[in-house]
Amino acid sequence: MSPARLLHLPSEVTELALSVKREGGRVGVVPTMGCLHEGHLSLVRAAAAECDHVITTVFVNPTQFGPGEDFERYPRTLGNDVRLAEAAGTHTVFAPETAAMYAADHATTVEVAGLTSGLCGASRPGHFKGVTTIVAMLLNVTQADAAYFGRKDAQQAAVIRRMVRDLHFPVRVAVLPTVREPDGLAMSSRNAYLSAEERAQALGLVSALRRAAECWEAGERTAAGLCTAAADQLDAYAGFLAEYVALVHPDTMEPLQVIEGAEGVEGAGLLALAGRVGATRLIDNALFREGQAPQI
Ligand code: PAJ
Repeated sequence: MSPARLLHLPSEVTELALSVKREGGRVGVVPTMGCLHEGHLSLVRAAAAECDHVITTVFVNPTQFGPGEDFERYPRTLGNDVRLAEAAGTHTVFAPETAAMYAADHATTVEVAGLTSGLCGASRPGHFKGVTTIVAMLLNVTQADAAYFGRKDAQQAAVIRRMVRDLHFPVRVAVLPTVREPDGLAMSSRNAYLSAEERAQALGLVSALRRAAECWEAGERTAAGLCTAAADQLDAYAGFLAEYVALVHPDTMEPLQVIEGAEGVEGAGLLALAGRVGATRLIDNALFREGQAPQI
């Protein structure tokens, strides 16, 4: 495959996307903040399998970081990202400067109400507003027919799906499974912050999800049962400071008491976890759907 093009200006990307579409091509976008790993690359591969032109965006979006969060220290590895993105099937990498996305007198934001208030939204006020604002921009700039996101960030994916539906963005949103390290730790650019000891503590997340999945397989359907099993398991990892352990509806992020179906709809629930190891905040989740094996 020919080398990926690296573009920095929104207008260049839009022009390119429109030329692909004029010839009947489908454009897929994979929004990322870079420091690419196999989780990101699984999205690129899915996009490459379904679309004629894949645009991977690499932009550490300042508006989704709160004061005191890791915006400054977030890893920036563009040269390597371009190589990895290209090898996975990216045609164009879009890596804008902040000023190219946010005009100095930028005044417009996109905010999804309701499903942004709980879970990560509770401890990161303004975070999802930053995410939806940048993703809306990226969908416009890339004119994408399909956009690819990871279920690792399940609340983010639900929020983006809702924005796309509510604002009638003409784009198909695909949400793909979490890619893990061989020992089960969910891949994340933030794993780069962990010391060896912290990394061992971080395994509390997947261990808690697996414990809850055993309970699910044994017939447990209540939030109390599933969350207690997960929380007890997390407690065994002394260095892991839990922020939340919650069972929510996978689309609305509303807390569930019990996973149960409604007329013709199979019951489903998302068990979502967040916490800190040292200074690093990590999240993970498992999706439980009646009639299916737990998706971790
Ligand atoms: P980032 O954290 O770089 O993640 C980019 C995409 O990769 C997201 O859709 C995320 O869910 C997905 N992803 C991350 N880790 C994954 C894993 N282990 N398995 C599968 N997919 C994984 O999420 C963001 O960036 C930003 O908020 C963004 C959407 C780009 C807006 O700035």
